[in-house]
Amino acid sequence: MSSFTRKLGLSLVVCLSMAGAGRVLAHGDVTPQAIDTTGLPPVGTDWLEKNPYRGNELALKIGKSGFNQNCARCHGIEAESGGIAPDLRYLDKGEDGDAWFLNRIRHGYTQNGTTKMPAFEGILSQEAMWTIRTYLDSRYAGD
Ligand code: HEC
Repeated sequence: MSSFTRKLGLSLVVCLSMAGAGRVLAHGDVTPQAIDTTGLPPVGTDWLEKNPYRGNELALKIGKSGFNQNCARCHGIEAESGGIAPDLRYLDKGEDGDAWFLNRIRHGYTQNGTTKMPAFEGILSQEAMWTIRTYLDSRYAGD
C-alpha cells in the first residue's frame, strides 16, 4: 500500500468515526415532533381530567407514532424502558392514571435544577397528549 492510499484509508476511518459521534450527539438532542391529530374530535381549551379518546382506534395509531417520536428515546421503544426513565407500561391504566400522566407530560420533571424530563405543554396539543395516553393504555403490563 502506498503511503497515499494509507493516508486516504486513515482519513476515511477518521471521517467515519466522526460521523458516528455526530449521530450519537444528535440522538441525545432530539427536537420534539409535532403530532397531527386530524380526524379526532378536538377537546377544547380546558384541561380534561380523563382521556377522551379511550378505545379510539385512530387515537391509538396516532399516539403510537407520537410516543415513538417524542418519548421513546427515554422511555423505550414500545414503552419498554431500557432503564433511563420509568417503564410506562406499569403506569396505572385507565382513569386511575390519567391525572398523573397529564401532570407529567405537561410539566415534565426537574430535580435539583436538572431537567430529567422536558415539559411538553406548549409543544404538544392536549389532543396529542391524550393520543399518547391511549397508546400507553394499550401497552399496559401490570396486573
Ligand atoms: C429526556 C428524557 C425523557 C423524555 C423525552 C420523556 N420522559 Fe417521561 N420521564 C423521564 C424521567 C427521567 C422520568 C422520571 C421522573 C420521576 O422521577 O418522576 C419520567 C417520568 C414520566 C412519567 C411518570 C412515570 C411514573 O412512573 O411516575 C410519565 C407519565 C412520563 N414520563 C411520560 C412521558 C411521555 C408521555 C413522554 C413523551 C411525550 C415523555 N415522558 C418523555 C424522562 C423523559
